[in-house]
Amino acid sequence: MHKKQRQTPLYQKLIHFAQSRHTSFHVPGHKSGGIFPEDFSEIFSDILKIDVTELEGLDDLHAPSGVIKEAQDLASEWFGSLYTYFLVNGSTVGNLAMILATCRPGDQVLVQRNCHKSILHGIELAGVQPIFLPPMFDAEKQMYTNPSIQVMKETLYNYHNARAILLTYPDYFGNTFNLEEVIEIAHHNNILVLVDEAHGCHFSLPFIEVPPSAVSLGADVVVQSAHKMTPALTMAAYLHVQSTAIDQQKMNYYLQMLQSSSPSYPILASLDIARYYLATFSEQKKLSLFAYIEKVITCFSESDAWVLEKKGPNDDPLKLSLRVNQNVDIQQLKSLFEQEKLYPELITDKHVLFIFGLEPVIDPSILRKKLVRIQQELKFSDNRATIEINHNTYYHEKILPLAISYADMKRLQAKWSDWENAIGKIAAEAIIPYPPGIPLIAKGERIEQITVEKIKQLFQQQINFQPSNRQTGLYVYVVDETRGE
Ligand SMILES: Cc1ncc(COP(=O)(O)O)c(C=O)c1O
Repeated sequence: MHKKQRQTPLYQKLIHFAQSRHTSFHVPGHKSGGIFPEDFSEIFSDILKIDVTELEGLDDLHAPSGVIKEAQDLASEWFGSLYTYFLVNGSTVGNLAMILATCRPGDQVLVQRNCHKSILHGIELAGVQPIFLPPMFDAEKQMYTNPSIQVMKETLYNYHNARAILLTYPDYFGNTFNLEEVIEIAHHNNILVLVDEAHGCHFSLPFIEVPPSAVSLGADVVVQSAHKMTPALTMAAYLHVQSTAIDQQKMNYYLQMLQSSSPSYPILASLDIARYYLATFSEQKKLSLFAYIEKVITCFSESDAWVLEKKGPNDDPLKLSLRVNQNVDIQQLKSLFEQEKLYPELITDKHVLFIFGLEPVIDPSILRKKLVRIQQELKFSDNRATIEINHNTYYHEKILPLAISYADMKRLQAKWSDWENAIGKIAAEAIIPYPPGIPLIAKGERIEQITVEKIKQLFQQQINFQPSNRQTGLYVYVVDETRGE
């Protein structure tokens, strides 16, 4: 590791500034913590000292030339990109900017259908035409994963004039695929490879057994949430560019348009620190992490309420996914976890997903006791068959464009419909179980009966949906194909 990677220029500058005797006649209104309701200041006071604005010497995220540039350059060196941006609005803003800066209105883009909503929002804002690649349904894992390599190849050959292929690598559950092969074919056809690697910031660690990072495999633009898998503040993210085919001016333009003109310095500093953390991650830490993961896995293996999802060699070892048995009431399981103060990342109708950090967070023997108590209190039943549907798949199996373009959708009016009557109509809104934020119905897609059945099942199971208006459970907003503006 280069010695420079031990430095944290942005963080150091902020600390230096916080320690200097300065009087704030500038924003933010808490004046470096000097004005803050006393009852609340205990937790906030340290962080308020570095919650500053673009003062002399503190650089400007939207025109970096000082410490922010230095910190971004160090990140770029670490992640192996051509250049790297710090983001203060998560991978969400990274995905939007990535699409807006690389695609032109009307371009065709190939996109894996089970992508995060921010990818679909980027596509809509950019006015491009998505061609959806159906994901595979892994019957053993009982979940959708990536599109098959065969489907990706077929689409890349059939749509060789497409501008870009948009891929999620890894997915929420840590599944990956042979991205290198896809990149090779896409580049052969002059198609850009844009990767949402929100869950893969730690893939940059060279010596731990994680899948290779999308940057190292040659993707053109890669977005990572630093806050998901590395120690950074929520909303901290990176956008890496590593291709001269990307117009840097456009990327700068969209990032300054989409991000706040008052970006949070604590978030920016945490990006500097997350990169430092990765660059200084030791062999010793790696050993204790993997020993810990093994012990945690053993604890979870002792229950008959679930089975542990098997991991392939290409899957992220920091994700632990349980497939809950059908005779377990998932809502009861959720409250038992909460009762034991165990908070998984995600509970769907079938799965519970736990995410490891890069260091241990609980003594495995304590965890074991909690899990034993959960097992004892769980009521196993066999009446869940009433809400099980006898099929699991709900995405189209074909490579498909949207039923209607975004431009046409804007011209047509929309109306509320009950779910039964919505079958066969075009959705004027996305229906998104959250987490994970992957739309079950995308805006502009024709609504299928099978998807409606799945949605009803999820409502019965009290799965949270976005948007959270009170109509969602009963009605869906559909395009009125008979009426224009
Ligand atoms: C695959 C994927 N992409 C993008 C995002 C958005 O990331 P952020 O929360 O950093 O905005 C998420 C969030 O869950 C995600 O799972």
